[in-house]
Amino acid sequence: MSQDTITLPAAADFHLHLRQGEMMRMVTPMVSKGGVSLAYIMPNLSPPISNTDQALAYKKELEQLAPNVTFYMTLYLSPQLTIEEIRKASKAGIAGVKSYPRGVTTNSDGGIENYEVYYPIFKAMEEEGMVLNLHGEIPSDAESDICVMNAEERFLPQLEKLHNAFPKLKIVLEHATSKAAVELVKRLGDTVGCTITVHHLQLIVDDWAGQPHHFCKPVAKYPHDRSALQEVVSSGKLTVFYARFILVKPSNLSLRTGHPRFFLGTDSAPHPRGTKETSCAHAGVFTTPLVLPYLAQIFDSLGCLDKLENFACHFGKAFYGLSQKPEFENATVTLARTSSELVVPNEFHISQDGQPSSLGTVVPFWAGKPLGWQIVK
Ligand code: NCD
Ligand code: DOR
Ligand code: ZN
Ligand code: ZN
Repeated sequence: MSQDTITLPAAADFHLHLRQGEMMRMVTPMVSKGGVSLAYIMPNLSPPISNTDQALAYKKELEQLAPNVTFYMTLYLSPQLTIEEIRKASKAGIAGVKSYPRGVTTNSDGGIENYEVYYPIFKAMEEEGMVLNLHGEIPSDAESDICVMNAEERFLPQLEKLHNAFPKLKIVLEHATSKAAVELVKRLGDTVGCTITVHHLQLIVDDWAGQPHHFCKPVAKYPHDRSALQEVVSSGKLTVFYARFILVKPSNLSLRTGHPRFFLGTDSAPHPRGTKETSCAHAGVFTTPLVLPYLAQIFDSLGCLDKLENFACHFGKAFYGLSQKPEFENATVTLARTSSELVVPNEFHISQDGQPSSLGTVVPFWAGKPLGWQIVK
């Protein structure tokens, strides 16, 4: 019963880094090439996007580079953010605020140490219906036995505390990597969601130890953690059983489950090759140009291609209550199994005004590896 083509609505990526400058000009036009038409943009630029005006100016730049993509913007949580700014941002359509703990990843030196000082901000966000996007790790601390392998799990009590303090505030635990995180998000209420990246469905710690192009934050963890991520996106086996009793098979969500609060956020985070292949590699995996082909391959290998559409196209939009620009609402993407050996490019060149940029190239996920699926339409 293996399927050779699959047609989906264009996907929604609820966690994306598009950078600035030359890097932005290279990666932004690739969003739609990967089959994505709605993108939720992270604010960790240098300097960070910390107010409405900056976010709107950034959005405009992105729209010029990718007119066929609907962009939703976020602000960087910092002491500069005020309640008035939250109200203004909400009116301007800014969808969320991203919190990074201090020092754990790219451009997070201005990050958070104590969440309680931000409670008035979170209250205003709850009232405005804005979403709190959490980078769920605490900083490493040898005294307390905290390192990258347990930094997410040790953060989870903070997530639960925030949810208890603001039960109506929509909170997304970004780029979950652990079984403990999956279990907690499932257990918390309907206002808590979770993004899962392409690469964390595939990688474990052995794949990034010594391999800088697989190094990202939070790091990929144990096999049982990866299994928990794979299971939550491919769950809903019950419906196969019940499907026999349904006479008219609807082509909608109900037969193809997954978990409605676990959805795609690629965390695609391009870094120049030179900053990855160095003595202190930058964290980030670049998946933007091939998001849906990678996912089709992964879901296919897990035997759950039928779950891809909900995960990549519907659940995130439903959780956020966000939609596509009306003119793109019916855009679809068709993927086909490749007959020949299609391989992921070894690198993408960054250019400046048509000339090679001094930033060099960016190496994508699975560079040089065969890919079993491609976008044909
Ligand atoms: C980019 C990077 O570090 O990869 N910078 C950034 O995120 N602030 C490079 C760039 O945007 O030019
Ligand atoms: O691996 C990562 N890279 N994780 C993040 O949280 C940030 C990102 C980046 O911006 O490079
Ligand atoms: Zn993050
Ligand atoms: Zn990120």
